Amino acid sequence: MNARNIIDLDDVSQSDLSEIIRFAGVIKENPSHYVDYCHGKIMATLFYEPSTRTQMSFQTAMLRLGGKLIGFDNPGNSSVSKGESLKDTIRVISNYADIIVIRNSFEGAALAASMFSKSPVINAGDGGHLHPTQTLTDLVTLSYEKKRLDNLTVGICGDNKNGRTVHSLIKSLAQYKSNRFVLISPPELQIPQYVIECLKKNGCEYSFSTSLEESISDLDVLYMTRIQKERFPTEADYLAQKGVFVLDAKKMAAAKPDLRVLHPLPRVDEITLEVDDDPRAKYFEQTEYGMYARMALIIKVLESGRSVLPDKVQDTHQVKCSNLRCITQTETYLPKIFNESEGKLFCKYCDHSVEPSAIQ
Ligand code: CP
Repeated sequence: MNARNIIDLDDVSQSDLSEIIRFAGVIKENPSHYVDYCHGKIMATLFYEPSTRTQMSFQTAMLRLGGKLIGFDNPGNSSVSKGESLKDTIRVISNYADIIVIRNSFEGAALAASMFSKSPVINAGDGGHLHPTQTLTDLVTLSYEKKRLDNLTVGICGDNKNGRTVHSLIKSLAQYKSNRFVLISPPELQIPQYVIECLKKNGCEYSFSTSLEESISDLDVLYMTRIQKERFPTEADYLAQKGVFVLDAKKMAAAKPDLRVLHPLPRVDEITLEVDDDPRAKYFEQTEYGMYARMALIIKVLESGRSVLPDKVQDTHQVKCSNLRCITQTETYLPKIFNESEGKLFCKYCDHSVEPSAIQ
């Protein structure tokens, strides 16, 4: 595999992605064959934000491969609490670990970490931005449960603005032929512009909806997400959206017999418990597929076998990103790097477009 770091699934070529998905299936069928694959290797899991599935499935994956673990799930118990920068933390931990898995509430944190790491870095979620290994989980789930990754009508329902899993999933499924997207959310929680641009670039059919009830009968896949409470500026803003979509048995009755319901979890109130018993609900199976997906990814990343400090990245523009959730807001030493597209600048860490007033 060519990719050293997994910051976005874009880092992985389509052929390498297909190989990881295939390999996850091979491991699933015969996990005992892989018990020593990572013998002598150490993974650091650095979770600056809460997690159940991503953290524990990465840890379980490494343990099942015979590797060992270090890390923290509460930065308050590390020297982060004394003011240590992301750069210094990563420089140190990459002396200890062969692979680093990081989750952080700031968008672009994993990309920033990768600039100072001798070891490969895997993004386990950067704020409301991306979550590539959840998408890998979702692709493995769909390859089992739908037997294909193309020609699907996919409903994405919930907090499409703040849900990092849906950004990564849409970007990835957009690469496959003839997928169509129904983006179901309140107008305030529509997907960010850079994800829409990706749909346009790939020539995908997509539509917006505010009604799960009206959309469900067309879908091959329904991807539910919770309203992401932790990303709202105030409790009142969250409460205004809480409970806006609820998948229940009545709505499921209108869906196709071969619909598959996925959810990255945790669930709050957006799927009623009765749906768990519907054979079309696959969100608990999805968590198991995720462990095999991560076992496959760890093996492929470690096989690439490079352990060197990357070259220093230079500023591309003298501009400050205005997104308050961007990692550049707190780690102010980071190089200012932007992509240019159609005369606009986009922050490379968080994908937000730069306000014209910020360009000097
Ligand atoms: N799907 C997911 O990212 O879950 P956790 O937040 O529990 O890791």
